[in-house]
Amino acid sequence: MDKEQENVEKTDPEGHRYGNFINYYTFHPAQERIEQLPQDIWSSCHLDSKYSALDIGCNAGNLSSMLYNFLENNISADGKCDVSLLGVDLDPILIERARAQNSIPKIKFECLDVLSKGSKTVLSKYLESIKRTRFDVAFCFSITMWIHLNHGDSGLIEFLKLVCEISDMIVVEPQQWKSYRNASRRLRRANATDFPLINKLNFTHDMEMHVENILRNECHFSNVMVTNQNNWKRKVLIYKRKS
Ligand SMILES: C[S@@+](CC[C@H](N)C(=O)[O-])C[C@H]1O[C@@H](n2cnc3c(N)ncnc32)[C@H](O)[C@@H]1O
Repeated sequence: MDKEQENVEKTDPEGHRYGNFINYYTFHPAQERIEQLPQDIWSSCHLDSKYSALDIGCNAGNLSSMLYNFLENNISADGKCDVSLLGVDLDPILIERARAQNSIPKIKFECLDVLSKGSKTVLSKYLESIKRTRFDVAFCFSITMWIHLNHGDSGLIEFLKLVCEISDMIVVEPQQWKSYRNASRRLRRANATDFPLINKLNFTHDMEMHVENILRNECHFSNVMVTNQNNWKRKVLIYKRKS
């Protein structure tokens, strides 16, 4: 049993279809994820002193606020950089929690399924409200597996293409194949229907390789860096728009 399986079963035993664990940050501390991020690869603050970030699958927002503080401290700027961050998640209860916990005015949370029909419009409207056309960076921590299991190979491609279209840099932490098997097992143990697409996936096993191939070949982004594995045996892949 891997670390995720063990912890999820202890603290959040229901089968989950979207990774919308209510107690996620009790067993997956947000601070550990921040420590894995390099400090010197971020682009500078813009001339108008603004920098914008998107956190996709933000859950209850704990990691989002740490990402915000991390960016404030690591974006190079002549004066103060005005960072804004939008966190989105498909679970309305988690978004309510995220809003209730948030004390930073420049962080907003929206309930949004990124693969829903109107999602690009919602994201574009937010960008318009902060007078930008793209996010400087989009964070996709531990979400690709849920997108992949629920929307198949084409859904994973669609997701990454959308994120790359609206962002200049993407930070992705793909789950390992073992986690797919565990997620499926949890559903079956909870007597829920298994992910209907799990046996139809062609992208299996080396998930980092598949995500990197999509980022390179479908999104035409270039590699900035890939971190070492963290405690959960996940690497963080950082890619950016080719200039
Ligand atoms: C395992 S949690 C990861 C939370 C956070 N990104 C982190 O790593 O700390 C995955 C989150 O993605 C959200 N999610 C899954 N599919 C989504 C989708 N299509 N659109 C938006 N959020 C989604 C879930 O509701 C859940 O909160």
